[in-house]
Amino acid sequence: MTSQPKTLITSDEITNAIARLAGEIRRDYNGKQPLLIGILKGSFVFMADLIRQLDLPLEVDFVTLSSYGAAREASGKVRVVQRLRTPIKGRDVLVIEDIVDTGTTISFLLDYLRKRKPASLRLCSLTDKPSRRRVPVSIDYLGFTLPDKFIVGYGLDWNEKFRYLPEICFLEE
Ligand code: IMP
Ligand code: MG
Repeated sequence: MTSQPKTLITSDEITNAIARLAGEIRRDYNGKQPLLIGILKGSFVFMADLIRQLDLPLEVDFVTLSSYGAAREASGKVRVVQRLRTPIKGRDVLVIEDIVDTGTTISFLLDYLRKRKPASLRLCSLTDKPSRRRVPVSIDYLGFTLPDKFIVGYGLDWNEKFRYLPEICFLEE
């Protein structure tokens, strides 16, 4: 059995962080039509809340990535399961991620996108676990820095469970 998730970050704190991030993004992309690329599945709740605060003529697309291996550990081998439908050459691309852990997944995706020659490429992540980093990643817009705990809720899962929780929670070992 899994332990019950415990709240780490409340809905109010998430709302405030999204308002702050939206302010930063709105300012930096003023006059532009950015393409926001969400990484499925984890980022869909965050992305839905974020885009409604941006007030920009943005477009959205999604990629699905998979990393083989156990539920709690990305194996280091990442592949694109469902690719983009939108050409990104010359676009201002902002990638939306739920969590940067070892950095393996996001650095793979950023390399993959960079090869397709966007005009600009930045990363917005809801959360970051810097203590677990193996591949360096620079996060342009960050919601929360987290301790080394396994996080669920607000889109994030453990074995596909708990994505629906409105708060950012952690599972006790
Ligand atoms: P990375 O490649 O190690 O940075 O792992 C990133 C991916 O692993 C994220 O996009 C999540 O899908 C998943 N992940 C990493 N840490 C957690 C966590 O604490 N809870 C849920 N998923 C996680
Ligand atoms: Mg993810």
